[in-house]
Amino acid sequence: MARFIINNSPPLKGSVKISGSKNAVLPILAASLLAEGECVIRDVPCQSDVETMRMLLERLGADLYWDKEAGIIQTLASGRLRTEAEYELVSKMRASFLVMGPLLARLGEVNVPLPGGCAIGARPVDLHLKGFSALGAQVMQEHGNVRAKAKRLKGAKIYLDFPSVGATENIMMAAVLADGVTVLENCAVEPEVVDLANFLNSAGAEIRGAGTDTIKITGVKSLSEADHQVIPDRIEAGTFMVAAGVTKGDITVTNVVADHLKPLIAKLKEVNLDVTETEAGVRVKYQEEKGGHIIAADVKTLPYPGFPTDMQAQFMSLLILAEGTSIVTETVFENRFMHVGEFKRMGADIKIESRSAVIEGVKNLTGAQVKATDLRAGAALALAALTASGTTELSDIYHIDRGYCNLAEKLSQLGARIRREEDFSEKK
Ligand code: UD1
Repeated sequence: MARFIINNSPPLKGSVKISGSKNAVLPILAASLLAEGECVIRDVPCQSDVETMRMLLERLGADLYWDKEAGIIQTLASGRLRTEAEYELVSKMRASFLVMGPLLARLGEVNVPLPGGCAIGARPVDLHLKGFSALGAQVMQEHGNVRAKAKRLKGAKIYLDFPSVGATENIMMAAVLADGVTVLENCAVEPEVVDLANFLNSAGAEIRGAGTDTIKITGVKSLSEADHQVIPDRIEAGTFMVAAGVTKGDITVTNVVADHLKPLIAKLKEVNLDVTETEAGVRVKYQEEKGGHIIAADVKTLPYPGFPTDMQAQFMSLLILAEGTSIVTETVFENRFMHVGEFKRMGADIKIESRSAVIEGVKNLTGAQVKATDLRAGAALALAALTASGTTELSDIYHIDRGYCNLAEKLSQLGARIRREEDFSEKK
């Protein structure tokens, strides 16, 4: 297994181009199963989660061509599609469950393994299933699989108990080919939901209101082809913006939508970083001239437009070095503090109290052997390691590969002392 070797680094400086959004491209790829014509998807990031989705779609019978250099995937799902998704792939990545809505709508029948729990929480799919039932599908759970059937789905009024991103996307995709109108209330308003709706509309769907808490979907007979540019990854952008603070540097992220970064920008300013929107992108600068220091702040994760849970761990890598006490409250996932134990190995002072982490800022961190406990936790530990004294060995970085394209290379270009070692366990 690969690992990162990270050494104490100078302040990171320069500009970095952000890739297309992982959380937008995964549902868009699933949605391409709905289209009878060719779909061209641009600015696709080179991440292992995208590779997993590509394999899943191919096993379901779609044809895909991925030009990794150009960042373009072409999909064609015009042939015979299979109704059964493979356990091996679905268990690897929860977003695989997003093929359920498109397959149910297109084929009238689908059998997908339950995605199961994961390190950050139980993550059930009850809201997805309630939505499919409301659209008239017969939904059964047996032997760890979810089977759903409906000759033709029927539009319905659906209220989500919680604005789940995945449930909003899965139900929206199913409703696209349903008879009549579906009104989805209390739905997720994340930019990735809007991007998915834009993709579907460009293929011929009739979706209105994506980005608000009520989405109206008027069913159409079929979807044709689409050519779509994926939105920039706000979480990757956020990770580099935090890196500027952690390393007392000056980083400009380009290929970003500043509006999507609002909740993070507000917090970066609150902790005393200088954030400016430039023509090129967003610049985050440590305020050396004003004494610099990072000030403690309280953070509560919430569905968009609140502070993103996917930035919680990275922001913590800033707060562990801040002056004063910060409280980070995680409201979206019940077990998303796995990184705390690893930060503590590096000298951080953090206590968990129920759904909050109480952080007493420390002056220095020390390099240690740590593990990426999940994708964002892994990125957060890499950031903290840049400012720790000595060397940090960060293992289990396959988690990081799931959602970052060349993280070590991009950090290195900004001056970070980080290198990747492949298969270190075999060398020992
Ligand atoms: C998506 C993102 C993930 C991000 C999360 C929240 C993708 C591929 N992944 O995940 O990176 O952290 O949004 O912003 O886009 N829930 C239920 N029942 C359901 C569905 C969800 O109880 O049927 C709960 C979950 O357990 C969790 C909360 O709702 O506690 C939020 O989950 P959800 O918004 O669905 O996240 P995902 O779509 O899985």
